[in-house]
Amino acid sequence: PDSPTQRVGERPASQFDSVRHNIPLYSLDNAFNIEEFTNWEKRWQNQLKNPVEPEYVCELKIDGSALALTYENGILVRGATRGDGETGEEITQNVKTIRSIPLKLQVENPPNRVEVRGEAFLPLETFDRINQDREANGEAPFANPRNAAAGTLRQLDSRIVDRRQLQFFAYTLYIPGEDGDRPFHTHQEALQKLQEFGFLVNPNQTICRSLEDVAQYYDRWNEERRQLPYMTDGVVVKLNDIELQQRLGFTQKAPRWAIALKYPAEEVPTTVESVT
Ligand code: IVH
Repeated sequence: PDSPTQRVGERPASQFDSVRHNIPLYSLDNAFNIEEFTNWEKRWQNQLKNPVEPEYVCELKIDGSALALTYENGILVRGATRGDGETGEEITQNVKTIRSIPLKLQVENPPNRVEVRGEAFLPLETFDRINQDREANGEAPFANPRNAAAGTLRQLDSRIVDRRQLQFFAYTLYIPGEDGDRPFHTHQEALQKLQEFGFLVNPNQTICRSLEDVAQYYDRWNEERRQLPYMTDGVVVKLNDIELQQRLGFTQKAPRWAIALKYPAEEVPTTVESVT
C-alpha cells in the first residue's frame, strides 16, 4: 500500500463515504488586531490559578483545506476532509496523490496509530496554471486558491487530483497511547517529530515570549506573505506547553490555548456594468 504506484487510483470513485473523526477537528477563534489578542491572553491567564510566563509558537495560517490523516503501523490508511469537525469525507485516494504526504512514515518502529492534521493547499503558480487551462476550455475559473484546493480534494477522479499538484503542511500530531494522545512536552517537539516522520512543516514558525514579539511577527508577515508562493490569511498563535494546553482545554468549537490572528480581508473594487 505504500508503493509509489499506489499514489493514483485507476478508477474514479462514484462518491465519497462519510467518516467519523477519531479525534474531532476543532476550529480556531479569531482576533483581528493586537488588542483582541491581548484580551484572549488575559482570558486564558485568568483561567489559571497562578499566572505563567507565556511561551507561544507563532505559525503562518495557511489558506487551504484541513485534512485528517490516519496511519496504522506506519502506513497511511485514511485521509479525510474536515467536514463539520466531527464527520468528514473519506478521500484517501485523493490524499495519496499529494507528494508531501508520506504513504509510509519514515521511521524504523512507527507507533501503532498516528493521527496527523494539516492544511492542503495549491501553490499560487499551480493555481494560475489551472485557471488559465479552465478559461481556455471555457470553464469558470476558481475564485481563489482555497476554493480550488477544496474543489480539487473532492474530485472523484484521483488522476485529475494528481495533475493539480496539491501540497500539504502538517501542524498537529496525535499518537494515541497509554499516556494520552500527546506523548511530548511541547508543540515544537511535535512539529519536529512530524518532520522526522517525513512531513513538510512550514519553516516560518517561531517562539514568541511577549505581546511585542507576537505583534512584530504579525506585522512582519503581513508584508512578507506577499513574497510567499502560497496564500496565508493570518498567523496562528499556540501555547507551546502541551500540559498547559491540556489544562486550558477547548470550548464547543475551538481550543482555548490557540488563536488565529487574522489579516484584514483584501478589498478590491468591482464595477457593476449592467443590471438586467
Ligand atoms: S491549528 C486545534 N494551525 O485554520 C488546532 N490551523 O480557521 C486547530 N489552519 O481549521 C488548527 N493554518 O484548517 C492550525 N498553522 C495552522 C493553520 C491552521 C491553517 C486552518 C485549519 C483550521 C482553520 C481555522
